[in-house]
Amino acid sequence: MGFDTSLTSVEKTLTKLEKLRLQNARVARVDGRFALRELFADNSVEHVIVNFPCPWPKKRHSRRRLTREDFVETLGAVLEPGGIFELATDVEWFAREMAETLKKTRSFSKLAIITNPDRPLKTRYERKWLSQGRTIYLLKAEKTGHIHIERTVTGGLPHTKIKKMDIKKLTQMKGQIWQEGEKVVVIKDVYHDLDQKNWLVLTYSSDSDFQQHYYILITKKGDGFLVKLDSTTVPFRTPAVKWSVFRLAEEIGV
Ligand SMILES: C[S@@+](CC[C@H](N)C(=O)[O-])C[C@H]1O[C@@H](n2cnc3c(N)ncnc32)[C@H](O)[C@@H]1O
Repeated sequence: MGFDTSLTSVEKTLTKLEKLRLQNARVARVDGRFALRELFADNSVEHVIVNFPCPWPKKRHSRRRLTREDFVETLGAVLEPGGIFELATDVEWFAREMAETLKKTRSFSKLAIITNPDRPLKTRYERKWLSQGRTIYLLKAEKTGHIHIERTVTGGLPHTKIKKMDIKKLTQMKGQIWQEGEKVVVIKDVYHDLDQKNWLVLTYSSDSDFQQHYYILITKKGDGFLVKLDSTTVPFRTPAVKWSVFRLAEEIGV
């Protein structure tokens, strides 16, 4: 199972899989940190390999680094006992920072950083950096203790009814930002059909650093309006996505 946030990278991988006629591989265009945490059960993964992630060297971007404790906690939950984590990078401090976070959890052992490892398969970036004479660092660790984590995507479609709606307020919603804890919601645009019975609200939401775009539908129902996720987009129902539906309804309901 491979994850990359870039559609181009996913497409390239799929083309290679097809050429090689590999039947036992799947690729998904999704944030790997989110996918590991939300799509895999505890103790269900044998091996996690992260190849050349961006180290986000600037301090103001450090929250985006994979070396954050929450990613290591995910590894400590989904890897099976004895499961292996590997990180390949050309940035030495990044490998060391990851090793420090792994150590802090006390759930990993046999930590080692191997310089210029002889890996049987080399990724595109690995070949690129090696051809430029850069050193490659491979951090390896074994899971020896379990870490409990909470998953954030839970079932249930968020929807709510409002009796009356402030249409003027809705039409002026573009650019509205709501924030609560780790949740951020931004209203990007508002569209309606000719007889103003259906409204589509293009919404951006973020849970920590996991970002999604989707539509919220407001549609006439009985003597009121129904506010729900529109089925043209299928976001993961994270806390921010659910909150956006209720927050919007609260804002425009009268
Ligand atoms: C330097 S490239 C390395 C590409 C490839 N893994 C290799 O080793 O040749 C970094 C890749 O990480 C992907 N990426 C960035 N953040 C990600 C995330 N949160 N989850 C999955 N992939 C991510 C980018 O789209 C990009 O393709």
